Amino acid sequence: MPTLTINGIAVSVPEGTTILNAAKQAGIHIPHYCYHTHLSIAGNCRMCQVEVEKFPKLQTACSTVVTEGMVVRTDTEQVRKAVTGVLEFLLIHHPIDCPICDQAGECGLQDYYMVYGLHKSRYALGDKVHKKKVQDIGGQIILDAERCILCSRCVRFLDEVTGTRELQFFERGDHSEISIFPGRSLGNNYTGNLADICPVGALTSKDFRFKCRVWFLKGADSICTGCARGCNVTMHFKGDILYRYKPRGNEAVNRVWMCDFGRLEYKKANEDRLLVPFVRESGREKTVPWGGLVPQVAHALSQATERDGADAVAVIASPQSSNEELYLVRRIATELLGTGNLAFTHRAPGDGFSDDFLVREDKNPNSRGARLLGIPDGQAYDDLIGKIAAGKIRALLLFGNVLGACSDAETGELLSKVPFVAQVGTNAGPVSKAAHAVLPSASFAERSGTFTNSEGRVQRFHAGFPPRGKARNPIGILVDLAKWLGGEWSQLDERSVFLEMSRTEAPFRGMTYETIGNQGQEAGG
Ligand code: SF4
Ligand code: SF4
Ligand code: FES
Repeated sequence: MPTLTINGIAVSVPEGTTILNAAKQAGIHIPHYCYHTHLSIAGNCRMCQVEVEKFPKLQTACSTVVTEGMVVRTDTEQVRKAVTGVLEFLLIHHPIDCPICDQAGECGLQDYYMVYGLHKSRYALGDKVHKKKVQDIGGQIILDAERCILCSRCVRFLDEVTGTRELQFFERGDHSEISIFPGRSLGNNYTGNLADICPVGALTSKDFRFKCRVWFLKGADSICTGCARGCNVTMHFKGDILYRYKPRGNEAVNRVWMCDFGRLEYKKANEDRLLVPFVRESGREKTVPWGGLVPQVAHALSQATERDGADAVAVIASPQSSNEELYLVRRIATELLGTGNLAFTHRAPGDGFSDDFLVREDKNPNSRGARLLGIPDGQAYDDLIGKIAAGKIRALLLFGNVLGACSDAETGELLSKVPFVAQVGTNAGPVSKAAHAVLPSASFAERSGTFTNSEGRVQRFHAGFPPRGKARNPIGILVDLAKWLGGEWSQLDERSVFLEMSRTEAPFRGMTYETIGNQGQEAGG
């Protein structure tokens, strides 16, 4: 472990560490553009120059490995002059269109200009070299070549991460330009990451384009619900509207990337939401108060049990629910309704599609959690659907918005065979169109809990804002429903449910929200 000093601070780092990373460890930020934690070192932007004792010239901190006794300074006049000069070069042909650039507010050029620049341009506007703007290059990306600082992060990403190599530099000198090969467009599942890694506004997101200024956005740590990988994300929202996902680092799950399909999953928290509780009377939706609806649902389920037996009542769980919610669902089915008709359904869209990087075939965040909690899918689910089709189920409690791979018409047809269907769900769809009672539930952006990904990693997700409209946290709905079904449950929130699970459920034994932290923890079993 070599020890060096940076600006007088002594720091010991593992062999092979670069000055830039050693400085990070000492709490010192060295400006940089081309360096990225998960890409190879290019050393081409020259922003990270520092003074190293005994070296005749400034060195690039991103590519210089530390040695024992090294003395580094990042705060001298010589360093500042060099960085300011590099920045001025990078800005010579920049169009300075910050007022209409989506990157404004999180742009490396703006940030460093405020620290190292604040210079007047020595280049007349008319002398600037103009390049192609607003190019739709495919995937989720718009390219503005004028804003590019030629850092090559995008080229390295497409070379080293996706291996698809769609972008390259063309021309020379001040006419150098990032561009896509003629006749090609971005053709991989991970294009959205290009907008994240581009340090300026050259590669921006088509989806987020002109939607919201970033300084209005707040963030909360979450987990993508798009598939069983469980990529760690930060959701960005303003009020109760979700605007985008950005990947959050977790080496064990998604490193620092996410796929294009998952990146758009945030929209489900905004669109087609179920926001008021209602019942269906003579085919028409009638809004009802929560206070009357939950006892009404409990009464219908109890009545069917008493009249036709527990085997005539069924519960279909959703792998979009959290571990905590699924635990309560299982207890309602087995302890309070006494039925063995319990299974979980799969979500249809995208099923079957996967790749050899992040995307899993299972498009649910918590199938593994459901199975670990003893809720089956597969044959058990098929058997249950068979009973529904045969008219043997007289009351059904259903979580989620779809019934497996059934089309809308098939879902309607199946559910029409059950005299009473209650849905706890977030989005309108074929189930809410057929259900007799709809209990609107908070979306993943409005509630907290844990999911277990396909590898058995239990990961926490956090609410960004309170439930929209009259939607309720499903934990509250379930505890309320249990009360009306005769259960004396005392859980107040997901934390108290998880605490109980960690005592009673072997796969979660001994875990706490603290041991899971923000990087997850392997479940047992
Ligand atoms: S487009 Fe962005 S990431 Fe690519 S070289 Fe230019 S500045 Fe760098
Ligand atoms: S790989 Fe799966 S979890 Fe990750 S971003 Fe894509 S859909 Fe979401
Ligand atoms: S970050 Fe070191 S040269 Fe670009």
